[in-house]
Amino acid sequence: MDHFHFINGALYCEGVSMDEIAESVGTPCYVYSRATILEHLRRVRAAFEPLSPWICFSVKSCPNLSILRLISGAGAGMDVVSGGELCRAMEAGCSASKCVYAGVGKTDHEIELALRSGIGLFNVESEQEFEAIAACAERLGIPCDGALRINPDVDPKTHRYTSTGNRETKFGVDLVRAADFLRASHGHHWCRIRGLHMHIGSPVYDPTPYEQAIRKALALMDTLRDDGIVLDTLDLGGGFGADYITGQSPAADAYAQVIVPLLEDRVRDGLRVILEPGRSIVANAGVLLLSVVYTKQSGDRTFAICDAGMNALLRPSHYDAFHFIWPTRPAAGVIPAARTMEPELPGLVVHDIVGPLCETGDFLALGRSIPVVARGDRLAVFTAGAYGMSMANRYNSSPLPAEVLVDGDSFEIVRARETYDDMVSHERVGELAPAIAE
Ligand code: LLP
Repeated sequence: MDHFHFINGALYCEGVSMDEIAESVGTPCYVYSRATILEHLRRVRAAFEPLSPWICFSVKSCPNLSILRLISGAGAGMDVVSGGELCRAMEAGCSASKCVYAGVGKTDHEIELALRSGIGLFNVESEQEFEAIAACAERLGIPCDGALRINPDVDPKTHRYTSTGNRETKFGVDLVRAADFLRASHGHHWCRIRGLHMHIGSPVYDPTPYEQAIRKALALMDTLRDDGIVLDTLDLGGGFGADYITGQSPAADAYAQVIVPLLEDRVRDGLRVILEPGRSIVANAGVLLLSVVYTKQSGDRTFAICDAGMNALLRPSHYDAFHFIWPTRPAAGVIPAARTMEPELPGLVVHDIVGPLCETGDFLALGRSIPVVARGDRLAVFTAGAYGMSMANRYNSSPLPAEVLVDGDSFEIVRARETYDDMVSHERVGELAPAIAE
C-alpha cells in the first residue's frame, strides 16, 4: 500500500506530480509520502493492539529528521544503534526515555551519552558490553535498564547479509550463554536486566521464524522464573516485510495473527512487548526519483544511464535486491497495473538501468523491461524509503541526494541537496579543529 499512483499518464505522490518535484528540486531526489508512513504505522499499531506494544521505529531505515519528527509525533519511540542515531531521535523531539539502544559496538563515549540522556533501554549484545555499561552507569551515578539480546538460532530465510538471529552471528548471545549471563547479572544495581531482545533478520516474509524465536525466548524466561528471576520485557526487534512487488509481503495483521496469541496472556500478567519496525513503515513510502542522462547501446544491451546509481541506492548492487522502476511519464502511456518483476505490457524494451559511477557493479536493475526511455526522461525507483537514503554514499564524489516530504497537495524539502562545498568542508585542512568524538 502506498500513495504513488499514475494520473493521466504521469506519476504522482499523493496530490503532487513527480515531475513538478523534479523540476523544482532536481534529481536525484528521494520523495516520501506522509500519508503512507502514517498509514503503515497505524496498521502495525492496530494489528498488535492486544499487546499494547511499545513501538520503536528503527531509525537506521530512514533517519531523516522530518520523518523521525513525523513518526515520533504520532507517538512512537525509536530504536537506535549509535550515538548519532540517538542524537537524531532527540533532535526530532523523541525523548531518550522512549528509545531502545542496540548495536554490537557501543563505545564508552556512546554509552555515556545514552546514560546522560536517560536512555529507555540498552539492548545489551554481550557480557563485555554489560560490564562496560554497568561500569559507566556506576561512574556517572546513573542506573539504567537493559535487555539481553539473544540469538534464538532460527532461520529467517532472508539474505545472508541481513540474517541476524542464527547461532553464529556477531549479534547477541546464544540461549545457553544467555541463561548463565542472566543468572550472573541478576539484581545488578547499576544495570538492571529486565528482559530479552532479539532481531532475527530483515526482511522476514514468513511469520513462522518469529513464532519459533518467541517460543524459545518464552521458554528461557520460564526457566529463569523457576529460579526466581523475573523478566518483564520482550523486545521482538524489526524485520516485517514490505512490498517490493505488489502483494509480496504479509500485512501487519498476518504477523500479528501468529505473534499475538503467543504473548497475550503474558502481557496480561505484566509483560511489556517492544516492536522495532523500520522497513514495514517507510519502505513503500519512498521513491527515488532519477533522470536519464543518456541512453546507449553496447552489443545487445540497451543502457539507461541515470544521474545516480549505487551511490544513491545501494540495495540492488549490494544485495541483488529488486526495486520496481518505471518512467514518471511512460512512453505511449503504458501504466503497470501492478509492480511485478516482469510486467506483461506492450512495447516494453529490455534495459540495464545503471548509474554514472565507474564500476560495472553500479546498477539499479539489469535486463529490466520498461517502456523505452530517452535522454531527459525521469525514472521512479519504488519501495526505496527504507535503507535507501540511509545507505547512500558519496562514491565518485557524488553529492548526497535531496529529500522531499509530500503532504497532500504540497511538498517540502526535508534535506537540501548536498553542494560541492558541503562535500569538501570537512577536508579544508587549515580550518579543521580536532573532533575526536562529539
Ligand atoms: N531492530 C534491529 C536491532 C535491527 O538491527 C533492525 C535492522 C531493525 C530493528 C529494523 O528492521 P526492519 O523492520 O527495518 O526490517 N540494509 C538492509 C537491512 C538491514 C537491517 C538491519 N537491521 C536492507 O537494505 O535490506
